[in-house]
Amino acid sequence: MSTHPNTARHYDENAENYHRHVSDPSDGTFHAYYEKPAIRAELPELNGLEVISIGCGSGVDARWLADNGAKRVVGIDISKGLLEIAKSNNPDIEFREMDMEKLDFPDESFDLAYSSLAIHYIDDWTPALEEARRVLRPEGQYIFSCGHPIDSAMEYTTEGKYKYARLGRRVDTETDERIVYGDYLAPTTDGVKPVTGVLKDIEVVVYHRTFAKMIEQILASGFTIERVVEPQPIEGDPKHFEQLTRIPTFMIWVLRKRA
Ligand SMILES: C[S@@+](CC[C@H](N)C(=O)[O-])C[C@H]1O[C@@H](n2cnc3c(N)ncnc32)[C@H](O)[C@@H]1O
Repeated sequence: MSTHPNTARHYDENAENYHRHVSDPSDGTFHAYYEKPAIRAELPELNGLEVISIGCGSGVDARWLADNGAKRVVGIDISKGLLEIAKSNNPDIEFREMDMEKLDFPDESFDLAYSSLAIHYIDDWTPALEEARRVLRPEGQYIFSCGHPIDSAMEYTTEGKYKYARLGRRVDTETDERIVYGDYLAPTTDGVKPVTGVLKDIEVVVYHRTFAKMIEQILASGFTIERVVEPQPIEGDPKHFEQLTRIPTFMIWVLRKRA
C-alpha cells in the first residue's frame, strides 16, 4: 500500500513551515547535525551524474546535489505544496509530482537515486525499490535514509510533565511481574507496523519494520547492500547530541543495482 493520503495533506498544509524547519539548522537540528551530513557522506563523486531525488520535499537536497556537481537533478514528490516551493526556489531544477511507487521515467534514466526520510511512509518497500532499480542504469546506486527501527519500536507515553520513549521492561524484584514497553518484532503484523503521529492536527502514518524485514524487502527488489550506516550526530546540537550518540533515530542504506 502506498503512502497514506494524510501525508501529502500534512505536507501541503504545512509546506512553508516544513521548508523553514528543514532549511534552518537551529530548528531542523535532526537534519542539520545528524541526517544530512550522514547521508551526504555516503554519496559518490557527483560530477557528471544524473540523479533522481525521491520524496524531494521542498527541494533542499536537490539544490545541494546540483550545487555539488550533479549534471542533472530531478526531484519527485507527492506534495503539491512542497513542490511549489521547490520549483519557485530552484527554477534551474526539474521537479515533478509523482509517487515513488510509479516513476514516470524510462528504464535506466539515472546514475544515482537519492532519498531522504521518505521511504518509511510506505509499508512494503518492494514496489518503490523495484521502481528505483528500474530507472537506474546498470550498477547505479540507491542511497536513502529512513527511520531507525529502534526508534519506531519504542512506546511513547506522557506521565505528568514527562514524556517517555521506552523499549524494554520493568521487572518487579519481589513478584517477578513484568511490564514490557515497546514492540520491535511486531509479531502480529509480520514485522511491519504503522506508527501514527499527530503532526499539526493531521494524523500521519509511518511504518516501523524490523531489520530482517528491511533486508528482505531490499534483496527482493534486486539490490545488493553495500553499507548500512547508523550515524553519529555532528557537534552543534546541544539538545539532541547525547541522545543521538547513544540511541539512533535515523539510518542510511547504500544499495547497488544487481545485474
Ligand atoms: C520528511 S519529508 C523529507 C523531504 C526531503 N527529502 C527533505 O529532506 O527535506 C518526506 C517527504 O516524502 C514525501 N513522500 C512520502 N511518500 C511519498 C511517495 N509515495 N512518493 C513520493 N514522495 C513521498 C513527502 O511528501 C515528503 O515531502
